[in-house]
Amino acid sequence: MTDQVTAADSGSTQDIPGKPTSASRTTLSHIMTHADTNLLGTVHGGVIMKLVDDAAGAVAGRHSGGPAVTASMDEMAFLEPVRVGDLVHVKAQVNWTGRTSMEVGVRVLAERWNESAPATQVGSAYLVFAAVDADGRPRAVPPVLPETERDERRYQEAQIRRTHRLARRRAIMELRERRISEGLED
Ligand SMILES: CC(C)(COP(=O)(O)OP(=O)(O)OC[C@H]1O[C@@H](n2cnc3c(N)ncnc32)[C@H](O)[C@@H]1OP(=O)(O)O)[C@@H](O)C(=O)NCCC(=O)NCCS
Repeated sequence: MTDQVTAADSGSTQDIPGKPTSASRTTLSHIMTHADTNLLGTVHGGVIMKLVDDAAGAVAGRHSGGPAVTASMDEMAFLEPVRVGDLVHVKAQVNWTGRTSMEVGVRVLAERWNESAPATQVGSAYLVFAAVDADGRPRAVPPVLPETERDERRYQEAQIRRTHRLARRRAIMELRERRISEGLED
């Protein structure tokens, strides 16, 4: 894995026209049933995570114009329990793009399937997808073009998360290399 942005075989983003956020924004809706519950009777977190990954994957594929794989999923927050009979809406959009990767932001909302009360937010997550070619190698993605002030804020926040992800990974790799050089073993 490389942390540097380089113009490699799969091309540079400079060659690709940008795409607005709204071009790939997607909502996936699903009614929760008894098959989705955990032992406590509420909906299993893994069921929600699968929907989040599905919605984010659709967005990443639409934005990048081809296959994209989940590279990481972080800050998955479960804010409220989800129950059988809830209609869950998973809303996803590209927040930020690098050379071959995209951060997709996801909000999870739930409402009773047969009531008209407004939906409440029950979760959120940030995922990084890498666009890949037919051989599974990273390929360049179109730069995302934020359209609203909210899109712009999300873009700037995603850059902060990107910086922290890279810094954390670098710090851990340096620690491991230092321990190996000191002859320490796990
Ligand atoms: C994701 C994957 C394609 C990255 O391949 P790689 O050889 O490490 O390639 P790179 O280091 O060039 O990374 C590609 C991009 O992904 C980003 N990336 C890779 N791993 C990442 C991680 N864990 N978190 C955040 N970003 C990551 C890189 O920063 C880079 O972004 P950039 O080009 O915008 O700067 C590769 O690790 C893979 O195929 N993983 C399996 C994915 C999969 O199968 N997911 C489904 C779950 S089963």
